[in-house]
Amino acid sequence: MGGNIKVQFKVNNQPVSLNIPPLRRLIDILREDLGLTGTKISCGIGRCGACIVLVNGQITNACLLMGYQLHEVEIVTIEGIGIGKLDPIQQAFIEEGGFQCGYCTPGMVLSVKALLEKNRNPTQDQILEGLSGNLCRCTGYGGILRAVNYSIKLLEKE
Ligand code: FES
Ligand code: FES
Repeated sequence: MGGNIKVQFKVNNQPVSLNIPPLRRLIDILREDLGLTGTKISCGIGRCGACIVLVNGQITNACLLMGYQLHEVEIVTIEGIGIGKLDPIQQAFIEEGGFQCGYCTPGMVLSVKALLEKNRNPTQDQILEGLSGNLCRCTGYGGILRAVNYSIKLLEKE
């Protein structure tokens, strides 16, 4: 199959230029090529949300996006928020017990960020819908939902 392609895009506001196979997955580019290991890989097939990043502000599974789809997009990973000071959503996850494991939390935080950037006052159903792409296989969602509700309160004070 054909050779590499050149793609230019931004990650956490930093320009990136790479020569990559067109079908190299964004998750591998982030973790292996760029050293951004905060984004996790679990199922690898778009089912769990461990790999969620924001692409042009939209919740996106990095295991499903290929190199050829990256030209001129803007990506935000968990490393791109809370620089110098915790993002209120990260603060809320810590304080309310939503930070249950390192696998699901980065994706959960980014899903909540995307949700609250569009809607600062979501209903509980809208919160559940916003987190519907993020799977916790172990602990349950009580702490996570408390964290989302506390995030809303912290953001109101900003
Ligand atoms: S690793 Fe991408 S959705 Fe599970
Ligand atoms: S998968 Fe992370 S807390 Fe369940």
